[in-house]
Amino acid sequence: MPKVTRKPLIAANWKMFKTPDEAVAFVQAFIPLVATHSHAEIVLCPSPALLPVVVEAARNTPVRIAGQNMHWKDQGAYTGETSPLQLKALGVTHVLIGHSERRQYFNETDETVNLKLKSALAHGLVPIVCVGELLAEREAGQTAAVLERQTAGALAGIDPAAAKTLIVAYEPVWAIGTGKTATPEIADEAHKIIRAQIAKSLSAELAASTRILYGGSVKPDNTAILCALDDIDGALVGGASLEAVSFSQIVANSAAK
Ligand code: 13P
Repeated sequence: MPKVTRKPLIAANWKMFKTPDEAVAFVQAFIPLVATHSHAEIVLCPSPALLPVVVEAARNTPVRIAGQNMHWKDQGAYTGETSPLQLKALGVTHVLIGHSERRQYFNETDETVNLKLKSALAHGLVPIVCVGELLAEREAGQTAAVLERQTAGALAGIDPAAAKTLIVAYEPVWAIGTGKTATPEIADEAHKIIRAQIAKSLSAELAASTRILYGGSVKPDNTAILCALDDIDGALVGGASLEAVSFSQIVANSAAK
């Protein structure tokens, strides 16, 4: 595959944590800690109720804000959902799609991920599409098949010309919130499988330029070894992103290559 430079991206997935006051306090503490770290893009993914205050607190800083989920329709009678138009109007620039917790607990499927991805791209929201195998699937030797199915499903019918901003996150479900990080070998192999599927589904050029993040028990002390790998282009961080110093250390330690 042709060699291209991919700027690392480090994203904080706060899941359903923090009050508005706590979220603003985080941003105020965090921004000065990363003021000199221009090697990576930094994205915060707060829950929907926090988006307005976090967007406001991060205004005029390099930190970008993502939704954790969105509906694919612009508007409609879909109680409890958030539309891409609403995210855009708030000043949100990125959106997580297909996080494993949404797949596990909220009926997210490869089909809804695909609809959401098409909508995000059409609305100019930078999509971070999450894929990853369950422990049982890994133990049954199905990892490659699962990653190929999820990646191909997400990308089905997508015009490569419209997918230049695509970001994928590999999050092995057995590594999320468990303290078990994928070894660099496991992560590297999975990222190569995903990149090869992007080449098949879209194009070799896009496969080479698409950033693939690793997520699953990323901590300050394992960031450098993971981010040093050629095919790992950043991290999607849960637990260790909730505290400003810890998340700033992850950003700092991602400057490994
Ligand atoms: P942890 O970093 O807490 O394992 O969570 C990973 C994750 O799900 C990020 O989206």
